[in-house]
Parts: sequence; structure tokens; C-alpha cells
Amino acid sequence: MLKHLRVSDGHRLLPVTIRNYERGDFTNLISLQALCFPPPYPSELWWNEEQLTEHVTRFPEGALCVEVEGIIAGSMTALRITLDDRIPHDWASVTDEGFIRNHDPDGDTLYVVDICVAPQYRKLGLGKWLMQSMYETVVHLGCNRLLGGGRMPGYQQHAHLLTPQQYLDEVISGSRYDAVLTFLLNCGRLPIGLLANYLEDEQSAHYAALMEWRNPFK
Ligand SMILES: CC(C)(COP(=O)(O)OP(=O)(O)OC[C@H]1O[C@@H](n2cnc3c(N)ncnc32)[C@H](O)[C@@H]1OP(=O)(O)O)[C@@H](O)C(=O)NCCC(=O)NCCS
Repeated sequence: MLKHLRVSDGHRLLPVTIRNYERGDFTNLISLQALCFPPPYPSELWWNEEQLTEHVTRFPEGALCVEVEGIIAGSMTALRITLDDRIPHDWASVTDEGFIRNHDPDGDTLYVVDICVAPQYRKLGLGKWLMQSMYETVVHLGCNRLLGGGRMPGYQQHAHLLTPQQYLDEVISGSRYDAVLTFLLNCGRLPIGLLANYLEDEQSAHYAALMEWRNPFK
């Protein structure tokens, strides 16, 4: 994957590159995780060099980053797997705790391990460009779909009033905004389920919405 484009910050059109990340990017990718997933998100869940080494070795096509004026502003990582949707899963089991040693080159699903954009580069469309680039990877590799557990970081503060399903339904209807779920919906991802104890994620009360994008050519 190598893509050059420009995005507007309201004043200028900034040069943007989307490409596969490599070993030389690891230090910057780890710093990026710290910016993107601040407390209460557990720092043990930030990438380490060992995990990143597995990503670029086992499935380099699923390791994407976005650069703005040469600075890494975001990243997205995926693995291939075949899943039975009737069996609930959690992040750790499906992604091998982020090590992706369970990556199956014949898997029919491109499963998202992580997507993040640094706070100072948000709302420029970079997250959507990363997602779009991963959709292109789904089509290029002939997978059936892209799938992933979407955090719902606005849920915890409403958990005393709404069940996770009610919260999700309100976000789907557009009557409620969630910083991650609304973004995923606007990227064309559709919810196909709700997963409890998906990830240690207080803000989401440890829930995630299972969000799918189907390959339109399959
Ligand atoms: C979720 C995340 C990746 C989105 O990244 P992003 O680069 O800000 O995404 P985009 O810019 O494509 O879209 C974000 C919003 O900005 C809006 N936007 C995009 N370009 C814009 C512009 N030029 N002007 C104003 N708004 C704009 C989009 O419409 C979108 O709105 P929405 O939230 O209502 O969908 C980012 O917020 C993040 O890293 N969050 C923390 C990590 C995380 O929780 N990741 C998800 C794991 S499941």
C-alpha cells in the first residue's frame, strides 16, 4: 500500500501518505499509542516492539500508518482469521493479545486489531482514510469482510440509565454521538452484535460493538 493525498486543515492542504509500517517506525508507533490511549486505558495494552515485529513479519499488508508532512499521525493493524459469528469472542483471543500469531493467510475475515489517530491530527479525515485503505486491502486480498470490536467510550457515563444495547441503538439511530461508534458508522461499518468483557476498557464498561464491512464484490 502506498497512497499520496492531501487533506485540508481549514487553512492548508497537508501532504499525507498512507503506507505499510516497518521496523524503523516502531518507536514512533509506540509514542503514538501513548497519545491516543491515555489513562484510564491500561498502558499494558499499548504496542510493544515484540507485537509490532509480529505484525510486520506475519501480515505486512495489515500494518498501515498515515503520515502528515512526514510525521506518523495514525496507524491501523489487522490480521486474517475465520470466525463463527455465533460464538462470542474477546479482543485478546481473536488478536492473540495483539501478537497476531494466530494470523491465518487463508482467513476469510480481515479483523481490526487497532486503529488510532493522534489527538492533534483528529477530525481531518485521516481515520476514515485509514479505514478506506483497509477496505481496499480486503478487496485486494479477496476477503469476504472487515470486522472488529468498536469501543463505545461514551457508554460508561450512561450505564446507570441505559443498557449497552439501548446505548448502541441510540448511536445507530443518530440520536446519540459516540466518538468511536459514530465514526465507525460514518465509515460504513454496520453493527452485527454486542460483546461483553471484550477489552479492559472502563470508558466502554468493557463492552464493544461488533462492526462489519462486507466486501461489495463478494
Ligand atoms: C476513532 C479515531 C481513530 C478517529 O480518527 P479521526 O482521524 O479523527 O477520524 P476522522 O477525521 O476520519 O473522523 C472523525 C470525525 O471528524 C469528522 N471530520 C472529518 N474531517 C473533518 C473536517 N475537515 N472538518 C470537521 N470534521 C471533520 C468526521 O466526519 C468524523 O465525525 P464523526 O465522529 O461524527 O464520524 C480517533 O478518534 C482515535 O484515535 N480515537 C482513540 C483511539 C480509539 O479509541 N480507537 C478506536 C478503537 S476501536
